[in-house]
Amino acid sequence: MFSALLAAALLTEATTTAQSQAVIPIPASETQAVGVCRLDGPITYSFRAPRLLEAETAELGDYLATLGWQPAAKGRGLVEARLVPGDRRFASDEAYRLTITPKGITAEARATAGLFYAAQTLQQLSDDGSATEIACRTIDDAPRFAYRGFMMDVSRHFRTVEFIKRQIDAMARYKLNRLHLHLTDGAGWRIEIKRYPRLTEYAAWRPYEDWESWWEGDRHYCEADDPEARGGYYTQDDIREIVEYARQRHIVVIPEIEMPGHSDEVTSTYPELGCSGEPYTSGDLCPGNEKTFEFLENVLTEVMELFPSEYIHVGGDEAGKSAWRTCPKCRARMQEEGLADVDELQSYLIHRIERFLNAHGRRLLGWDEILDGGLAPDATVMSWRGTEGGMKAIRAGHQAIFTPGEFCYLDYTQDAPFTQPASIGGYTPLRKVYSFEPVAKGMTPEEQQRLLGVQANLWAEWIPTDEHYEYMMWPRLLALAEVAWSQPGRKEYEGFRQRALEASEWLRDKGYHPFDLRSEYGERPESLTPVHHLAEGCPVSYTTPWHRSYPAAGATTLTDGRLGGWTYGDHRWQGFLNADLDVTVDLGKATEIHYVGTTFMQLRGPYVWVPREVEFYGSDDGREFRPLATVRNDISTENPALLFKTFAYAGKTSARYIRCVARNNGIRGGWLFLDEIVVF
Ligand code: ACM
Ligand code: ZN
Repeated sequence: MFSALLAAALLTEATTTAQSQAVIPIPASETQAVGVCRLDGPITYSFRAPRLLEAETAELGDYLATLGWQPAAKGRGLVEARLVPGDRRFASDEAYRLTITPKGITAEARATAGLFYAAQTLQQLSDDGSATEIACRTIDDAPRFAYRGFMMDVSRHFRTVEFIKRQIDAMARYKLNRLHLHLTDGAGWRIEIKRYPRLTEYAAWRPYEDWESWWEGDRHYCEADDPEARGGYYTQDDIREIVEYARQRHIVVIPEIEMPGHSDEVTSTYPELGCSGEPYTSGDLCPGNEKTFEFLENVLTEVMELFPSEYIHVGGDEAGKSAWRTCPKCRARMQEEGLADVDELQSYLIHRIERFLNAHGRRLLGWDEILDGGLAPDATVMSWRGTEGGMKAIRAGHQAIFTPGEFCYLDYTQDAPFTQPASIGGYTPLRKVYSFEPVAKGMTPEEQQRLLGVQANLWAEWIPTDEHYEYMMWPRLLALAEVAWSQPGRKEYEGFRQRALEASEWLRDKGYHPFDLRSEYGERPESLTPVHHLAEGCPVSYTTPWHRSYPAAGATTLTDGRLGGWTYGDHRWQGFLNADLDVTVDLGKATEIHYVGTTFMQLRGPYVWVPREVEFYGSDDGREFRPLATVRNDISTENPALLFKTFAYAGKTSARYIRCVARNNGIRGGWLFLDEIVVF
């Protein structure tokens, strides 16, 4: 009895050592054992594998050499890596068991992928071989999701082959296995296509240093030899190099060729592929024109030769489609094919491209807009506008990858905006990425099977430099890696944050530029604790409806005592588009009041404006309202910063009903966002 208790106490102790916390993503299960395995010098290893798999183990050996591991001169070495094909203990090719004993370490897996991940775990546990000992334990590990992705936008700002390879190295360390390259977009075409040389002589270059000046400027391209030319592209040899480098690290590179939207660089270089036939008119390809299909199929043919990936990503997002409505070719196509609207016209294009890909043994992947107008039969949906699109596809029997903006967009700012470089906006700190739970309640096991996995996306409009790119990428990609790999029951934020701090240290050591988590400011302080006030919990009636995309907590939002954070996307800010706000709070009985305040957010980028003025009224019967105050705005719409302005009545009055009317400033497409009506 006593000894069992003692052993239990020792076990608890052992599981809380710093070492056992060190691995990202946290393994599925870890059983502590007594003792330590001593390390002395570089990690040595030997393989025990069927002869048939010699080529594979040799390749793994080449990779292990890059980690500083050495094949044992004789005998088994510190690590014996056993390849046991068909071993049913392993749920997938990526699963592994690592047994660490005082006598040595055994890694086992049914495929080299599993041994590769066992090595990553051991590499972290051993501080890259520099630790003097590792506490004994057995780790049984397997990924939660088969698809663990990262999307790199190399169109808005070009990134070198070397840069991509560096990120591949780190992705492999954290067991990510898909690199989605966003190779084409309006800001530049980035892949050599032999059949269309103008794509890389012209569409890959712009006479602007960065995306913002190009976007604010004339959005034109220029010849590669123009002295002002900025940009670049990957030659086909570069692509082969990236794909091979990734493959050796068990990462599949998925190319994205955008269509039919986000294609300004194509329609400006080959104007016959756009509806107007003129350059610089629309970024949408013309689906009415057979030449568009000829172009896309020729491009995809070369792309498929370069990328062995099962999936080819065809974009599909955010097409404007407006030129299609009046284009004679598009109209004729719609008539011939019996297409009811432009959504169905896009769907026609995606269906055709899918047939082409399928005929070449590949599968189509696209952003969730490919659902509009009807999903192609074999298509897989990458769900970015929330997970709804992905869920819809899954329910319809398709596969999906979840990459909802709220959790997975690493171009959003990661700390208090006033502490951060300019970004697209938002607020997605490490904790938020980490909190992503892709499996919704009520998903059946079959539906869960069709959820292939998750991905983080790093769009680069606001990210001109490599350093800045890494800063946005790390350490948040670690959180996504753990969401993708680890079992939800093993996740716990504070422990993860500690491990992310250590991993950031490693990244810095290796010359990466992670955001410094140690100096994180955190969420908007006002949002952290509830405010208790006289209107808390009181009903609010709306004369003007909130926008369906930003309901926050619906009718209870403005009196729930919860103030908003740094982003209007946090479900605490309620949004009104192209409209005034006109709401009335019922305090339940005549009440003496001294203060009524409402705070609005302003963020110039997405057209979020504080109101022109706010009017406050009081009433005893809910019919007759007397003015309490009218407060005018004094913040310029030119200010690019995230700003908060509180409009308030202060005085002394008695009322049962309080009405707030906020006048929008009249800029079309503009939003009002407020979080609470505070009454004292
Ligand atoms: C996207 O963010 N437009 C996929
Ligand atoms: Zn057209």
